[in-house]
Parts: sequence; C-alpha cells; structure tokens
Amino acid sequence: MQMSQPVNIPLSETAEPSSAGAFWRHDPPYHLFLLTSLAFAITAGFTLAILAPLSMALEWGWGRHYLPLTQAHGQVQVLGFVALFIIGMAYRLMPRFSGRPLTPRLLAWASWPMLSLAVVLRLIAQPAGEGLWQRTLLVSSGCLGMLAATAFALVVVGTLMHRQSRAEATGYFFVLAAAFFVLQAGINLALVVLAAQRGEDVIRATEAAGLLHVQFYGFIAMFIFGVASRAIPTISGLPRPQIQAKAVALALAAAVLVYTVASLWIGSGSRSEALVRTEAVSFAALGPIFLAGVWVVGIFRPAANRLAGASQHHIWLIRAAFAWALISAGLSAYYGVRASAGGDFLPVFGVDAVRHAAGVGWATTMIAGMAMLILPEFAIRRTRHPTERWPALTILVLLSMAAALRVAVAVAAAQWPDTDRYWPMAAGGMLAEGALLLFAALFVVSLWQKQSIVASIPLRPAGK
Ligand code: HEM
Repeated sequence: MQMSQPVNIPLSETAEPSSAGAFWRHDPPYHLFLLTSLAFAITAGFTLAILAPLSMALEWGWGRHYLPLTQAHGQVQVLGFVALFIIGMAYRLMPRFSGRPLTPRLLAWASWPMLSLAVVLRLIAQPAGEGLWQRTLLVSSGCLGMLAATAFALVVVGTLMHRQSRAEATGYFFVLAAAFFVLQAGINLALVVLAAQRGEDVIRATEAAGLLHVQFYGFIAMFIFGVASRAIPTISGLPRPQIQAKAVALALAAAVLVYTVASLWIGSGSRSEALVRTEAVSFAALGPIFLAGVWVVGIFRPAANRLAGASQHHIWLIRAAFAWALISAGLSAYYGVRASAGGDFLPVFGVDAVRHAAGVGWATTMIAGMAMLILPEFAIRRTRHPTERWPALTILVLLSMAAALRVAVAVAAAQWPDTDRYWPMAAGGMLAEGALLLFAALFVVSLWQKQSIVASIPLRPAGK
C-alpha cells in the first residue's frame, strides 16, 4: 500500500472494528462533526458569503437585515463550519497523540447536538427581526453554545491532562484552545443576553470585536498551531519542537487575553487612550507571534521530505495555508502598529482583512489540506487513485483565489467606498463555495467507500 508514511493512519487501524456497527460505536465520533460542519459551510456560511455582497452590489434593499445576516454568516462560519470541524478532528487526534482514550466519551457525543443546535438557533434568530421569539431563540442559542463548549473543554482536559498523557507541547495548544472556546461561549452568552435586553437583533460591532478575536486567534489559530507543530515536523524531518512551541502557545494566549480585555472595556463605552493603544499593540503582537508559530511548525524549512508520492501535492495546501498565516501576520502588524502610533482605533476594514486572511486563506485551506493528509477516508482514496492530483489542486486554486479576492477588497475598502467592491467579494464567495462542494463530495464518497470496506471484513471469533 502506497501511503504517506509519517502522518497517514495505517489501513489496519481504520479497519480495527470488525463490523459497520462496531465501527460507528468504537471510532471517535468525528464523522458526524465533519459532515455537519461541511453542511453548515455549504448551505449557510458560504451561501451567505455570496448573497450578502450580492445584496449590496445589486441593491436588493436588505437594509437593516444586512447586519444580522452578516453576523449570522460570521457565527455560522466560525462555530458551525470551523469549530465543528476542529472539534471533530480533536476527538480523532487526541487519543492518537496522547495515548489516552477520549474521556469522558459521552460528553464528546453530547457536544455535537448542543453546538449544532446552537448554530441553527442563531441562524433562525438573527434574521427573524426583533420580538420575544427572536430573543428567546438568541439566548437559547447562547446557552447551548456554552454547554457545548464546556462539554468539549471537559473532554480535552479529561483526555490530555492525565499523568500518562503523551500530549507534550500539543497539549498546551489544545488545552488553551479549549479554555478560549469556553471563554468565547461565555462572552457570546453575555452579549446575546445584552442584545435581547436592549431589544436588538445584533451584537453591537464594538462589543463583538473581543468575541471574534477570542474565536479566531484564541481558539482557531491556537488549535491549528497545535496540530501543525506536531504533524508537520514529522513530515519535514525536523525534531518536534517543545519549548519553542509552548512559548508560542503562551504568547498567543497572553496577546489574545490583553486584546480581549481592552476591546470589551472599549465596547463598554470607555474611550481611554491607554486602552485604545493597548488594543492596537496587542493586535500588532499577532504579527511576530504568528511568524514564530510558522517557524516552529517548520513548513517552509524542511530538512527532509517524508511524504509518499501520492501525498506530495496535498502538502501544497498546507504551504498555501501557512502563506496566508504569514499574510495575516503582516496585515495585523501593519494595522496594529499604524493605529497605536496614531493613537487611533483599529480600522474596521483592516480587522476584516486580517479575519478573512485567517478564516478563508488559513483555516479553510488548512482544513482541506490536513483532512486530505491525515484522515483515513482520504488515505483509502489515495490507495485507489495513487496518481490523482486534480482534486487537491483544484481546491487549492479555488481557495487561494477566493481568499485573495476577499482580502484584497477589505484592504482596498477605505479607498473604494462605492458598492462595486462587493462584486469581487461575491466572486470570492462563489469560488470558496465551489471548493467546499468539491471537498465535501470527496469526503462523503471516501467515507462511503471506507464503510463498505469495514463492512466487508469478516467478524473475528471472540478471543482471537
Ligand atoms: C470567500 C468567502 C467569504 C466571503 C465572500 C465573506 C464575506 C463577508 C462579508 C460580506 C462580511 C460582512 C462585512 C461587512 O459588510 O463589513 C463578512 C463578515 C464576516 N465574515 Fe466572512 N466571508 C467569507 C468567508 C468567511 C470565513 C471562512 C469566515 C470564518 C471562518 C468568515 C467570518 C466572518 C466574520 C466573523 C465576519 C464578521 C461578522 C460580524 O460582523 O459579526 N467569513 N464576510
């Protein structure tokens, strides 16, 4: 069997349970998370990413519905698409790198319906206008999000913070990411309660900035660095970093906390110059921290190439993802330093550019690349189609173009005030939707094939 040696999971391991029923019972519950995540991305997150800019370019008159709908887009992408994917991958990876079973397993399962329902309620509540029903749904969504985040964090702590865990530096990233996931859920709950009390259908932008920062950099970036700093050195023939990786995790956590406190304080009405500067400096700090993170991951300084031929092109998705991490690093340093030097607030369009460089360019490309490299479903596909390159390369081109269009428009927005600028944004949304449709189709077909293989393996007699 031709497989990429260090990170691929041997087929014998994927086929361990000897019937389809046993497969669903014993395998970590990641399929459900991944499938739900892709369903949210395709039907809502990227669909709204096309419709919202089109509504501006074609003047559909969404008026006051534009903000609730783009906020729904943001939360579906962050929680429904990226977080569900990350949580599913975490449940698959944690037992493998820590040598410990998922504990408590029941909570791992419980986090799926809670988080999924939280996202669905948010999606219904935000465009529903203002009223008692809308407020009830919004607050219920916040409560469910909090319960889901607590369940996930308890599984991460229960699995990794154990004497026998071999999680090493990866454990730091995962535990911190889980802690930030609980923090964002707490902030989100407080903000939706506040919005409901005020009779509003959106979280105010000044208050949402801290929430989004925790979601993007405390949770998503932290988790990506955790996985990549473990998997990539193995592929690149580098020693697995320990002290440097822990330092990156702690520095990122500190920068995110400082920004969040400053931003929420500003959101509560303070206009203190010291707070405005602190917010800008901690935003700029993401630049050197991401740079250090990319160095620790080692994707651009390989000492060897330990990937088999059939996986060579998948690494291009990871390289592209980390090129976008460097672009977000440059943009956050630029906007942060400029704002702190002038004592100004961070520019809204600049923050939007950094978010989309991280959300589309880095996180979405990383999700596709890492899944294709390490999930057993894709390993089976590689054994059947060892020379197939077009799916990974098509996804790479579509996502790179989507991210470039989305980020370029945000960077140019200050000099390009008219609504024409929404056309390239909508085009970016369509390209990203296309990439996700292709990725999801490949995953579903591969999952189906894997299940048929597992179901065809004869049952072993007990005790053998
Ligand atoms: C190419 C794909 C995408 C397009 C075209 C797009 C488009 C948009 C648009 C038009 C807005 C509103 C901006 C404004 O009017 O100020 C927005 C906001 C946002 N987007 Fe995206 N987006 C895309 C992908 C993503 C992804 C993948 C994520 C997250 C992983 C994401 C997260 C957000 C967030 C958090 C907001 C801010 C919402 C808020 O104000 O609370 N987007 N996006």
